[in-house]
Amino acid sequence: MKLNVKNIRYLGSDDWRVLTATEQGSRNHEVVPTPLIAQLASIRSGSGVNKCISNLAKINLIAKVKNAKYDGYRLTYGGLDYLALHSHTKASTIFSVGNQIGVGKESDIFVCAAETGRQLVLKIHRLGRISFRTVKANRDYLRNRSSASWMYMSRLAALKEFEFMKALRNEGFPVPEPIAQNRHTVVMALIDAFPMRQISNVGDPASLYAELLSLIVRLAQYGLIHGDFNEFNILVEEREDKETGDVALIPTIIDFPQMVSIDHANAEYYFDRDVACIKRFFSRRFGFTSDEPGPFFKDSIKTLTKRLDVEVEASGFSRKMAKELAAYMKEHGVDGDAGEVERDDEDEDEEDDEHDEEEPQEADEVSTQPDDEAPSQKQPISGQPAATPATLASSLTILDIRDTDPLPSLAEVKPDYSKPTISTKAAKAKAGWAI
Ligand SMILES: Nc1ncnc2c1ncn2[C@@H]1O[C@H](COP(=O)(O)OP(=O)(O)OP(=O)(O)O)[C@@H](O)[C@H]1O
Ligand SMILES: [Mg+2]
Repeated sequence: MKLNVKNIRYLGSDDWRVLTATEQGSRNHEVVPTPLIAQLASIRSGSGVNKCISNLAKINLIAKVKNAKYDGYRLTYGGLDYLALHSHTKASTIFSVGNQIGVGKESDIFVCAAETGRQLVLKIHRLGRISFRTVKANRDYLRNRSSASWMYMSRLAALKEFEFMKALRNEGFPVPEPIAQNRHTVVMALIDAFPMRQISNVGDPASLYAELLSLIVRLAQYGLIHGDFNEFNILVEEREDKETGDVALIPTIIDFPQMVSIDHANAEYYFDRDVACIKRFFSRRFGFTSDEPGPFFKDSIKTLTKRLDVEVEASGFSRKMAKELAAYMKEHGVDGDAGEVERDDEDEDEEDDEHDEEEPQEADEVSTQPDDEAPSQKQPISGQPAATPATLASSLTILDIRDTDPLPSLAEVKPDYSKPTISTKAAKAKAGWAI
């Protein structure tokens, strides 16, 4: 879904209080009664609260629920996105948000930037978003479902992803640097590379193949199975050795909400599926097959280096949380990028009236790209499409206007005509902006 950040800087502190109050209230109320919102926001003036409520409803951050027994509101995806972005801005993690670079079944991916100009990725988990067909099948169930559940489950997915990324990164696995997590969002380093799915040709498939399979084995030696180890979730960067001129292909693994422990009842099945995904892709795309059988799950776990599954369980993402998330994902047919569930947001938007009402429908902000398709024509890796993730972040919307920013002195703002003027773009580049 779209992420329309243009209103974020215009929200006042009372608006944020009312939005936060609606979030708090929705933990145990499907529809949060207006008096409860007022009470939780602790804004004295009743008319002040109502004004904020109507502001927030107008920009679709909360939605009035029709036909409820009492007057009330619920938080929308947009509202939760704003709360998370606000926290990231306050923590100085995110300064601006740019284009959408990925749309998954269960997440949206945006380029964003820190104040230093460093480009990052914001992954917004959307676990309640399922295909129209699945929604139809689950309609009765969804009607009765607590509205807090999509929020909670999306938060669990983000937390799980963040905790595993931290643990893997600490052990030297090639994963993006995890930067922050808030609510249903994860902020991580932007990898300037394409998913392997978009690569039609590599010079030396054998070494990339061997590296990927050894990563599966190494993960198992650390107690883990990725569970969705496929061409969508492996980013491949081309790095040239300046001295020798040799080009190395560097894989980075992403997407961890479906990671399982080697103790999982179906661990071997997931391990074999990860291996099979790589074998099938290399054979189909690069015409490469290896004579060597395996790797096999049982051999891989003979010598364990460390139990990251156990470590993560003990740190932030508990076994109880893991079970809740796994049950929800199973119930909703979440089976990774290569799974069977339809990727059809349009249908959902058009047909699911319940969701229609609560989701912002503005089309003018962030362009939505279709999910990564196979390249329509074969290109060598060096002839990848022109737009790399880094260049996509050309228009970044700054999220915060800070009243406390000191005003510049007149001497600083007065134009100095003795110096040649430069273009805005050049000035921004000079100031270290991501442009
Ligand atoms: N750190 C990153 N750097 C560059 N591109 C990224 C990064 N993270 C994600 N992407 C891009 O976004 C796409 C989707 O990301 P990811 O696989 O994490 O989400 P997803 O597939 O939607 O997850 P889900 O399994 O929840 O459906 C990737 O294929 C990749 O193109
Ligand atoms: Mg993915």
